Amino acid sequence: MTGRAFLIGGIALYSTSSEGSMKRIEKKERGGNSIILTEDERQILFLASLAPSGHNAQPWFINYVKPYHWIICNDSKNWLPAVDPLQRETILSIGAFIQNLEYAANSLGYAVECSATALTNQEENLITIMLHKARGVPVYNTERIERRRTLRSNYLSTPLQSDDKLFLFNKEKDFFHFVPNDSIYYSYLNEQTINANTTQAYRDEAQRELANWIRFSLNDEEKYRTGLTTDSMEIEGVAGWFLKHFYGKEDVMKNSFRERTIESVRKQVLASAAWLLITSRGNSVTDLIETGKRMERLFLKVRERGIAMHPMTQILEEESIGKGVAAELKIEDPIQFVIRVGYVKKYPEPVSLRRPIDWFIRRVGSN
Ligand SMILES: Cc1cc2nc3c(=O)[nH]c(=O)nc-3n(C[C@H](O)[C@H](O)[C@H](O)COP(=O)(O)O)c2cc1C
Repeated sequence: MTGRAFLIGGIALYSTSSEGSMKRIEKKERGGNSIILTEDERQILFLASLAPSGHNAQPWFINYVKPYHWIICNDSKNWLPAVDPLQRETILSIGAFIQNLEYAANSLGYAVECSATALTNQEENLITIMLHKARGVPVYNTERIERRRTLRSNYLSTPLQSDDKLFLFNKEKDFFHFVPNDSIYYSYLNEQTINANTTQAYRDEAQRELANWIRFSLNDEEKYRTGLTTDSMEIEGVAGWFLKHFYGKEDVMKNSFRERTIESVRKQVLASAAWLLITSRGNSVTDLIETGKRMERLFLKVRERGIAMHPMTQILEEESIGKGVAAELKIEDPIQFVIRVGYVKKYPEPVSLRRPIDWFIRRVGSN
């Protein structure tokens, strides 16, 4: 089967692969929105949108005020109320988006002025951004943004080398809690992750929400450009093909699917170099945005060292388990991320979907 280009307004962003799923091939797609962006604005927003987010919900949109003057907004339609009832993960994800945006703007010679406006995680207008050309802006290699991805399988148990740990964690030691695989807390975190995933898989509300964010068919991939695909969940081969062709939302609610999810988590936690917990000083909107940015700065650095990252947030989403973990590890600051890290032999290119820019930008005052 040959690949099929998917065109909106003339520029292809994805094509279908031989397995019949969308594949990233190009950038800066246009989608018929009346807002005319400059090439630089388009590049900056495209790179910002490559940020990670829970269930790949991409809970952001841009209110366009005028060129290079935007408000980064919280998109309540893309919240995950069953697993993230306080929109904690939503704001962390938007923090990652803002980090990408800043690096992307810097790479084109823009300084970024940010002013936070929101006091709660639910407010729509979060951050006002103004960009202006400036001298001496630190240059950032945006290939890191384009090639970052979440990886879930085939981790090695090889411990992280000291120079890699220095490179990754040294600058922000206060917020990174590294639990290597020879620590007693490592197996404890493995067990609690399996526990939390089991609880969540059998919590119908959470499972239904997950079902709504899985895009089994190519039609749904093209229609939404958000969510999880069989490729991004790394369900490959015959199993992936079968899910793509014969599965739908209702199948996610079956016990066989729930058991399969728990089984894959069991397999995943069998190997990694370490768990990494990221904490914040507090739980304010600013704390969460800063933590999302911190996580993303790290995420953008790991690939060049052959290290993969896999956020596994179920411990924090199942509240009683999260409290127990913080007490057992004697961590007082709020834990915002639980991440598996480890070397991998093969580091595939990113495959998760993204919306075209025009789908997440609006003019102030319009809907
Ligand atoms: C706040 C947050 C929570 C996440 N939680 C999980 C998780 O529990 N399990 C998982 O497999 N991936 C998790 N992820 C990773 C996302 O699923 C991933 O970023 C998204 O699917 C986009 O894929 P990409 O990172 O490869 O671009 C999380 C990401 C963020 C930012």
